[in-house]
Parts: sequence; C-alpha cells; structure tokens
Amino acid sequence: MNLNSLAIIGTQWGDEGKGKITNFLARKADFVVRYQGGNNAGHSIIVNNKKFSLHLLPSGIFYKNVTNVLANGVVVDLFGLIDELEKLKQNNFNDFKLIISDRAHVVFPYHKEIDGLLEKAKAKDSIGTTKQGIGPAYTDKASRIGIRIIDLFDDKYLKQRLQENIILKNALLKTLKIDYEINFTSLYAKIIEARAKIKDYVKDTAKIVYDAINLNKRVLFEGAQGVLLCLDHGTYPFVTSSSPTASSIPLNVGIPCNYINEVLGIVKAYTTRVGNGVFLTEINDQIASKIRIKGNEFGTTTGRARRIGWFDATLIRYAKRINGITKISITLLDVLSGLDQVKIAINYRLDGKIIDSIPLLAKNLARVEIEYLTLKGWKEDISNVKSFDQLPLNAKQYLKTIEKYSEIKIAQFSVGPKAEQTIEVLKIW
Ligand code: IMP
Repeated sequence: MNLNSLAIIGTQWGDEGKGKITNFLARKADFVVRYQGGNNAGHSIIVNNKKFSLHLLPSGIFYKNVTNVLANGVVVDLFGLIDELEKLKQNNFNDFKLIISDRAHVVFPYHKEIDGLLEKAKAKDSIGTTKQGIGPAYTDKASRIGIRIIDLFDDKYLKQRLQENIILKNALLKTLKIDYEINFTSLYAKIIEARAKIKDYVKDTAKIVYDAINLNKRVLFEGAQGVLLCLDHGTYPFVTSSSPTASSIPLNVGIPCNYINEVLGIVKAYTTRVGNGVFLTEINDQIASKIRIKGNEFGTTTGRARRIGWFDATLIRYAKRINGITKISITLLDVLSGLDQVKIAINYRLDGKIIDSIPLLAKNLARVEIEYLTLKGWKEDISNVKSFDQLPLNAKQYLKTIEKYSEIKIAQFSVGPKAEQTIEVLKIW
C-alpha cells in the first residue's frame, strides 16, 4: 500500500518547533491530527505576520482545505477549546475544518485545580507541570471514571458521572485540607452551555482518519511535547501523562500500526527543558542567558524561563530508536549565530562504558561523564539564508556534525520563525 502519512515527533523535552514545521508541511496536507496531550502544549505559528499560540487546536487550522483532528488520545479542556475557537473567530479565521473524537476525554476545571494542588503538596519534589490538569485527566481515564466528549451529550449519564467525580474530588481536597469545594450545579450549567458550541465537531474520528489513509490522503500526525517527556520512555517521573512517541499514534488515533510510513523528528539546534528533572548537558552561564533571550526560550503555555543546554546527540539517537525516525528537521539554528564556540555532546559514559540513554536511577546521574566536541561558531546573521550552500562554513560544519552523531539524515533546517525560513534539504513528502 502506498501511504501518504507522516508523523512529526519532538525528539527532546518538547518546544522543538513542531508547530511551525507542522504548519509549514500542512500546506500540502489533507489532514492534521493531534493524537495526545492537551493544552499543556503550546505551538507558536506566524500567520500573516501575526503570532498565534495554539494549545489544543492542530497546527493546520489556518489552512481551509485541511481537516484538523483532535483524536481519541487527546484530553480536551472544554472551556480552553472554546476560548481558542473564539480567538480564531476574533481574528477572522472562520473558515476552518475541525473534528473532535467522541472518545477523547474531557479536562474540567477541577482537574487543573487538583494538578496545581498536587504540585504544591509535592513541594521541592514537584514535576513542574503546566497545571493544565493533564495528569489528573489521564488519571481519571485510566481509573475508568473519566468523562468522554460523547458523554457530554447524554444528560442522565453526564449528571451521574459528574456528581460521582465531584464527590471523589471534594473528598480528596478535604483530605489535603484545602479550603475549596467544587460546585456541581454551576459546573453542570457551564458544561451545558459549552457543549452546544462543540456539538457539530464531534465525530468518530478513528473511522474518518482510517478511511482518509485508505484513500491515499495526505495525513500529518502532530505530536505534542517530546520523547523524553513520554510516560513510558521519558525521564520518569519528570514526564507528562501521555506518550508523544510515534508508536503511540495507532492507539491514540485508532488506526492500524502499519499506517505510518515516515517519521520526521524535530530537533532543536541546542537543548531546552521546562520543568524539573535530569538535564545532562544543561548550562547556566552567560551563553545560556544569551540563547534564552535570542531564542525566546520562555514557555508558550506558562511563560516560564526554559532551561538551556548544548546539543545532545545521545538523546537524538535514543529518540530515533524509540520512534523509528527516518529524517530530522533542525530548528532554531539562527539562535546560535554570534557564539565563539558551540558544543555537541556526542557520548555518555557511565563507569567508563558508553551508554545509549540517560540512566534511570537518579543516584547514577552524578557518575555520568559527557564527551563533548567543541566547534567554531559563526558570527553571520543566517536568518535570510535560502539554501544549505549559503550557510557560513562553520554553520555547515555544525549541521554535518549533528547529522553524523545523530545517525539520521537532515531533511530541513530552519533559521527563523516564519514558514519561508524553513529550508528543505531533502524531500520529505
Ligand atoms: P504536564 O504535561 O502539564 O503534566 O507537565 C509535565 C511535564 O511536561 C512538565 O515538566 C512540563 O513542563 C512538561 N511539558 C508539558 N507540556 C509541554 C510542552 O508542550 N513543552 C515542553 N514541556 C512540556
């Protein structure tokens, strides 16, 4: 079967620029499918010289021919979604196609409240979540007490489920000695008002995407977060509560596991992390501050300053192994212009032996030695470069070294936030 499907995967700790690349590739797409996470994600896209921050809506929403899908694996913040839709309309984007899985689970305000309270209770051991209720919503799904999008439209069932949930949540709040009680009546009234606004978008998205792939439509799967935030393969417990890997797409969309033929890894030209947890190539010096300012490394969802570090090839080789990445797209290369030197971590060693991933036990982290290559930087502004050949010699060398140690071909690199600042080196689809 000749498939036209492409997965876009974050290879680091999120914020690699997936939204921008998805938006760039969506020009040629028929479908853009978000398959996990919720509005913890923040995808920045520039359209008509205006910056939009998407949290739940897929990054193909600005193309009127693209069907945008929130698949069953996504957790949908009902009120957050309505706010995002209203912002689109305020900016005169009325002509978009959106469908939402009837099986997706709903994030309610109490999930956010509990997310924040649990983080506070963990104090210095907190995860540093986005407080968007993602963990508590997936917890309810796994505990089989969650409320799905379809359930919003069955009054009797919704009332019963919501009441049961509120009793449980209020008991938890009481145990935590939190002076806050969820009120069923006001929440139910708000839900009834909100559900009418999304009713027309609710569909069996699994069947629609399956049929589209069989008809050879061009389907992009848009990951949120990155591999190292995966609940199973990330730096647990400092992870999100879903799996941003290519392997999770079939389950989270409802399609067969052989329906994805290319996996594009999005790789930032350096490394960042927001939230707590291990970060072996982290730097805290003036170079880090320079990169943070130039790369605008502040969370799209939370505004938090992101932690900064050197490029880490071990992480990209790991992401390749977990996801079957076939090509990579290097983003934010322009941010490194002006540095005297740039470093690439090529290997980790534990007790003298090369290891191919971050050790799982925190007690072993201090013994990891990192082997770096130091390369000459480049001073030139590269934001108007249109081809690989036009790059300064040292920037070319930097990309070639990344390619060599990541062991994956570079298909694109980008030198600024606008779509036309993405340069294709190899054809992707
Ligand atoms: P949660 O997904 O809000 O539960 O947060 C869990 C961890 O994932 C925290 O370290 C967050 O900072 C991180 N995280 C969640 N979403 C994103 C994202 O879109 N970009 C980067 N980090 C994220």
